Amino acid sequence: MPDVDLWAHLNGRLVRGREAVIPIEDRGVQWGDAVYDSIRTYGGKPFQMDFRIDRFFRSMQYARIAPPLGKVALRQATLDVVRENMKLVAADDDITVNYYVSRGSMKTERGLTPAGTFAIFCRQVAFASFAKFYVEGAPGITPATRRTPPECVSPKAKVSNKMNHFVAELEAKAHNPDAFAVMLDLEGNITEGSGANFLFVSEGRIKVPDTRLVLSGADMASVAELAGAMQIGCDEGTFTAYDVYTADEAFFTTNSFGILPVTSLNGLPIGDGKVGPLTRRLMAAWQEQVGIDYVGQAIARLPATDRQRLETQRRAMAD
Ligand SMILES: Cc1ncc(COP(=O)(O)O)c(C=O)c1O
Repeated sequence: MPDVDLWAHLNGRLVRGREAVIPIEDRGVQWGDAVYDSIRTYGGKPFQMDFRIDRFFRSMQYARIAPPLGKVALRQATLDVVRENMKLVAADDDITVNYYVSRGSMKTERGLTPAGTFAIFCRQVAFASFAKFYVEGAPGITPATRRTPPECVSPKAKVSNKMNHFVAELEAKAHNPDAFAVMLDLEGNITEGSGANFLFVSEGRIKVPDTRLVLSGADMASVAELAGAMQIGCDEGTFTAYDVYTADEAFFTTNSFGILPVTSLNGLPIGDGKVGPLTRRLMAAWQEQVGIDYVGQAIARLPATDRQRLETQRRAMAD
């Protein structure tokens, strides 16, 4: 379905997305002086909303922006905007809900500055941009541009200025248009994707890059919970590309796609270069958890020939 003009909240008012305009002098526009967060719906239900609301509040506290509303009010506003938007999209569609708050000025009161623009705006999930990777796996590339070190800006905060992430993603895609960036820190340790956490599997255990260096992802937390329930161990550590080259499986986690398999790094297949068994088990558990066939939902958005090819491959994977 083409882009639908979804409902948004702008400074407390419900408006259509195309009318949700912000002042040109907003500090987020000129300087990226803002924080944000994102939630995806599965079957119309926001996934891990409370985790992301808590993180949004932590990001505001870190950036010293006074919250423009409380958590309970934000939760209700989210449910309201989701309910109205699900009436506008197809029954099998889903959306992302994005929070945005910019700093209003540098005037501090008890250490905090006032909020400027506050918005909740939504997009239909861009299924076609990642659907095939659920089945075929995505290539990962370690670009030259590095993840922001915690000494500069805490990677734990979801801040709006992500220029290094975009440049890193473009570097990866210049090598291979299908590739996703796997960003390194200043010392060459694995951190995360430009908009996703990166995890890998070695000897049956999930490896999680040092959480000081990455966003505390809601989907990564969900994977850890599922893994715990499935008696799969997780180890946090400091890893380099070597550890991934010699690993068995890898995947990204983020709000838009949940779990997305990564089957090569810098052109070298990871394991046998196919979506691995542990990743497939986690994806099946994810499906159970969100209550919909989210892979089928994404593949259904592709042109018929791609759809048929991927459905055949998917059935073969399940056998
Ligand atoms: C840099 C970065 N890491 C990780 C994630 C994944 O976070 P979550 O699973 O909470 O969506 C995101 C999401 O936007 C991100 O931007």
